[in-house]
Amino acid sequence: MISLFTAKTGNSIASRCREDEATRLRLRYKPYYHTFDRQVGTHVWLGGAEMVMLSSNDYLGLTHHPKVIEAAQRGLAEWGTSTTGARLSNGSRSYHQQLEEKLAAFLGKEACHISVAGYISCMSAIQAFAQKGDVVLGDKNLHSSIWAGIGLTQAKAERFAHNNPEDLRELLSFESPETPKIVAFEGVYSMEGHIAPIPEILTVTAEHNCFHVMDDAHGFGVLGQHGRGTANHFGVTGKIDLIAGSFSKALASTGGFVAGSREVIEYLRSHSKQTIFSAALAPAQAYAAEAALDLLQSEPEHLRRLWDNTRRYKEILHDLKLDTWGSETPAVPIVLGTKERAYRFWQHLMDHGVFTVMSIAPAVPPGKDLVRTAISACHTDEDLSKIGDAMAFAARRL
Ligand SMILES: Cc1ncc(COP(=O)(O)O)c(C=O)c1O
Repeated sequence: MISLFTAKTGNSIASRCREDEATRLRLRYKPYYHTFDRQVGTHVWLGGAEMVMLSSNDYLGLTHHPKVIEAAQRGLAEWGTSTTGARLSNGSRSYHQQLEEKLAAFLGKEACHISVAGYISCMSAIQAFAQKGDVVLGDKNLHSSIWAGIGLTQAKAERFAHNNPEDLRELLSFESPETPKIVAFEGVYSMEGHIAPIPEILTVTAEHNCFHVMDDAHGFGVLGQHGRGTANHFGVTGKIDLIAGSFSKALASTGGFVAGSREVIEYLRSHSKQTIFSAALAPAQAYAAEAALDLLQSEPEHLRRLWDNTRRYKEILHDLKLDTWGSETPAVPIVLGTKERAYRFWQHLMDHGVFTVMSIAPAVPPGKDLVRTAISACHTDEDLSKIGDAMAFAARRL
């Protein structure tokens, strides 16, 4: 008897799936989709082996903070598991509004809109605003979520060289002054750990009729006063029209936000397909994010510890002469240059109990194949020492 699960279908999409080289290689070398059996703070267990997690975005280490856990449990007890409806129709709750008001006030913006994922928020930050006849100019290294948002519009897309305001200036010079323009960049680039040169970008865009969208998924909670993010770090919050971000990094939850002026956020609520046609953020996730947001202000020691750990970690990498692509933040790539070297380095770290993630071209520019690491406030002295030993071992075998 032919099993339902093994029968091979004859259509071309099914054949494409069966023959896909990327999937074949992934299943053979198993670099991704690892499933942990257990987690305690920065430690995870994989197939019985205990490892230090060095690639999570739990920057402030709040995923296991008792106040965050207690808040999530309260959210469940008070509201159940899901809203089962979109904000526009029947999914809006007072806890959504409360979190939006707190976030807007924290960021220094008039209004905020939250959604189920940072990816969705970033998409909507472009999709809701860009129309046919507009131009979206994005940094070449922008996260997939912004490109996905652009892809849903009929606007023209242009890419400027990474963190290069002069290239942006040149692209802008080809556009007519009347053309509506969106300039999109990240506050902190997730793969590279670079901070965007926002003051220089703003100087270039000043005369060009631009709407500025910043994805600050990795700057929020990490840079600025109490973690208010990259715009606050540079003192330019008023000049960024939309700040988008994620709850799945420093805020120890899932979900995302966009913040801006009241009229811009209300416009987004009318035009974001991601908002209109998708269920609202679940109670436990919103409560966890709000508790973490409160902790950013009431317990600044987590942010201090994050930066202390970052400095110590970078010293280790610097002493080993590893290339960190000039990372300025707790998101730290180790550039190996080829996929073979990146794979070997990653495997040595795994063998020595340190879990990281490999990123290879085309996900990164050619020659920049890397192992992506990120430091957390929760990494202990013992963790850092174990990380140092594993890095030294892997570096010796390059
Ligand atoms: C720069 C950037 N933007 C957006 C996102 C999406 O965030 P989320 O995980 O909340 O969907 C990520 C997540 O990796 C990211 O790195």
